[in-house]
Amino acid sequence: MSDTKKKFDKKGARGMDEIAKTLFAPIYPVIAENLIRRFGITKGTCIDLGSGPASLGIAVAQQSDFSVIALDYSDDMHEVAARNISEEGLSERIRLLCGDVHAMPLDDDSADLIISRGSMFFWDDIHTAFREVYRILKPGGKTYIGGGFGNKELRDEISAAMIKKDPDWKKFNQKNISPENVERFHAMLDEIGVPEYEIILGDEGFWIVISKTEAGALL
Ligand SMILES: C[S@@+](CC[C@H](N)C(=O)[O-])C[C@H]1O[C@@H](n2cnc3c(N)ncnc32)[C@H](O)[C@@H]1O
Repeated sequence: MSDTKKKFDKKGARGMDEIAKTLFAPIYPVIAENLIRRFGITKGTCIDLGSGPASLGIAVAQQSDFSVIALDYSDDMHEVAARNISEEGLSERIRLLCGDVHAMPLDDDSADLIISRGSMFFWDDIHTAFREVYRILKPGGKTYIGGGFGNKELRDEISAAMIKKDPDWKKFNQKNISPENVERFHAMLDEIGVPEYEIILGDEGFWIVISKTEAGALL
């Protein structure tokens, strides 16, 4: 197992679940609201990549009519996600799918919306992963992939608490939103030839919005 994947074993899954239900709890409904408001789409298939405990998928399902697929490569994360989905009474609306973002077991042009929070910073090969994202996105579909806390108040409050909890977190977070990292994602999207995209960097977080206009994968 890779060192990255080891972070998301049983202990990692328990830790992520705990933080998602406490300190991070208020961010998921806000992020869901932000993205639904931005795109104005509320039904179809939504795929949550690196879904972890499924908190974002749950928030999107609660605020829309989407059928959600929660994709993650960690069985331990799926175990906690299954519990959370069932506790929210959403087992009919959210399906768990075990898979790696670098080779997803999903059809071309099958997702109306692809969301992901706090996962892409762990992906080994962002070129391959985003080619996959583009392949499974439907024409007319959108992505909201990145990281953040939804708004300024939550960002400031949670960042301060995270730094107190874990001094290394500050470095990790600063690296993720550094101009060099934003440029790395910009360059990657240009290199793989994504025709239409926008990178949001602000109070709501760092998010990659891809708008797919034509069917098919990138070269
Ligand atoms: C920091 S957690 C974030 C979980 C959740 N999105 C949230 O915001 O609460 C990162 C998640 O991404 C998943 N992940 C990382 N790399 C992945 C990959 N290559 N394919 C699928 N899932 C991946 C991990 O298993 C973990 O559940």
